[in-house]
Amino acid sequence: MSHALTPISVGPIQLRNRIAMPPMVRLSPHVAPELVQTDGLVTDGLIEHYAQRARAGTGLVIVEATCVDPAGRVWRQGLNAHDDRSVEGLRVLASAITAAGAVAGIQLVHGGPQADASLTGGLTVGPSEVAPAVGEPEPAELTSAQVLLIEGRFGEAAARVADVGFQFIELHAAHGYLLDSFVSPIRNHRADAFGGSMENRMRIITDVLLRMKASLGERAAVGARISVFNHIADGFGLAELQAMVRILQDSGSDFVDLSTDRVLKNAFGTERTMGQLARDATRLPVLVAGGVSTPADAETVVSDGHGDIVCVGRAMLADPLWTERAIEKLTGAK
Ligand SMILES: Cc1cc2nc3c(=O)[nH]c(=O)nc-3n(C[C@H](O)[C@H](O)[C@H](O)COP(=O)(O)O)c2cc1C
Repeated sequence: MSHALTPISVGPIQLRNRIAMPPMVRLSPHVAPELVQTDGLVTDGLIEHYAQRARAGTGLVIVEATCVDPAGRVWRQGLNAHDDRSVEGLRVLASAITAAGAVAGIQLVHGGPQADASLTGGLTVGPSEVAPAVGEPEPAELTSAQVLLIEGRFGEAAARVADVGFQFIELHAAHGYLLDSFVSPIRNHRADAFGGSMENRMRIITDVLLRMKASLGERAAVGARISVFNHIADGFGLAELQAMVRILQDSGSDFVDLSTDRVLKNAFGTERTMGQLARDATRLPVLVAGGVSTPADAETVVSDGHGDIVCVGRAMLADPLWTERAIEKLTGAK
């Protein structure tokens, strides 16, 4: 019996198997113009894009990073959930995924220092005035009151997507966007409750998780995606990874999603992978992504405890039927 094809519970929801499509925005309208949204709204092409991967048998389909605040927009062709205009399209999208037997997930993002200033009215915001990369503009430092407003934006967007049928809601706390930039001691020099210790730097994330948990109850699994590997230059190691995972668990997360450069690579000078080390620190299901492209690797990820749910990104973009073929291979049907 395949481990990757075994059902699993994530908080209040059940997945039919442990194969997930991770969140992936489409970077260029030239690659897939039929998927481009006008003004952040869902298109028929986009619905079909996700529904195809769901129909192939994928257990969990996580819709791409979706913006919670007009001031945090990152992509001109990116989805948004920051106002009620987006609701009808998102409802159709969630039901198309659910009707195909997958759990409909979605990722919520605020771009923070990595927002596109040409979409946000010229300004980007962050924990401190530290540019996201050399030559890029410094974000304006958020006041404590503004941080609370952004927490509210996440809460409102979560309620919107839960109301239209998304049952797995993930905060994008990875890859340098707003939530991740708070976690980084290099980018966050704040002296208020949102800066200093790891607990404080994660407070914006944990506040939102607690709020989502309280308002959504059993309607959705909630959690966050973190990417420790892009903080290693900031002095992050095993202790920081495990501390982050524990903090997520203590603040009501139903899962931890770990974005890695390569799932099946040993980490921090140990004989174990990042996913295995994260799993040591939590009883929550851990999702892992990074470099899994064959059914055999997906099976190894689950059977050897690198993660409980295996995300297959680029390979599933390249082949909408990836999961169907994997199921055939892993069940010996072909
Ligand atoms: C085109 C593209 C878009 C992506 N968009 C997102 C995103 O919206 N949110 C996110 O957390 N990660 C995003 N990622 C990262 C993927 O979710 C995944 O973690 C990464 O591609 C590694 O998995 P893979 O090796 O299976 O592709 C994106 C990756 C690609 C290739």
